Amino acid sequence: MLYPKIAPSLLSCDFAKLKEEIKAVENAGAHLLHLDVMDGHFVPNLTIGPFIAEAIRRCTKLPLDVHLMIEEPEKYIEPFIKAGANMISFHQEVTQAPQKLFDLIRRQGAKAGLALNPDTPLEKIKNFLSQLDFVLVMSVHPGFGGQKFIKTSVSKIQELKKWREAQALSFEIEVDGGIKAENIDQVAKAGANIFVSGSGIFKTSDYQKTISQMKTKIQ
Ligand code: DX5
Ligand code: ZN
Repeated sequence: MLYPKIAPSLLSCDFAKLKEEIKAVENAGAHLLHLDVMDGHFVPNLTIGPFIAEAIRRCTKLPLDVHLMIEEPEKYIEPFIKAGANMISFHQEVTQAPQKLFDLIRRQGAKAGLALNPDTPLEKIKNFLSQLDFVLVMSVHPGFGGQKFIKTSVSKIQELKKWREAQALSFEIEVDGGIKAENIDQVAKAGANIFVSGSGIFKTSDYQKTISQMKTKIQ
């Protein structure tokens, strides 16, 4: 079994208290920190760059899971790994030749992931599964935190898990968008083992309690 991991998405934290927020989720038992990188082109929002990622790196020992929601991800992979990223995913929708980018990510010692939007069929990534460390299944349309979970992602996760078994592969399945303590069990049952949650953690009053509830439901 792949180890279940809770990955708070900093997008929903209070950036005026970034270090305290990071420490709070770290002490509350988070396994990873999810960093959402948006460029105002692939998605209509702008967030953080390598400079901020490097500052985050200095605040925590948790692995940094960098989710690139940007065009031309090839330009930013190295800067984010230099800044301390341990996992990097980019979107299927923006790359014709993802293989080169997986190699680039792995050569520098990070894990490589491919992300897909809710409307992108799984078939689009089928040929790459054997080269991936993880697949990121978006369960909201990328761009903003706090959106409602899109239920069709459950069957996508189930299908991916089946493919993984059929081909005896070992990639992890990450789910991102609208995940809360209330619905985490359904994506866990479907086969996901990395759970990104932004508002589902940072908009609750007790991170420790929320993360413990999540862990109980996925173990
Ligand atoms: C959306 C991002 C998500 C987002 C999740 O584009 O990729 O990581 O922060 O936020 P919630 O959990 O609030 O949907
Ligand atoms: Zn994300």
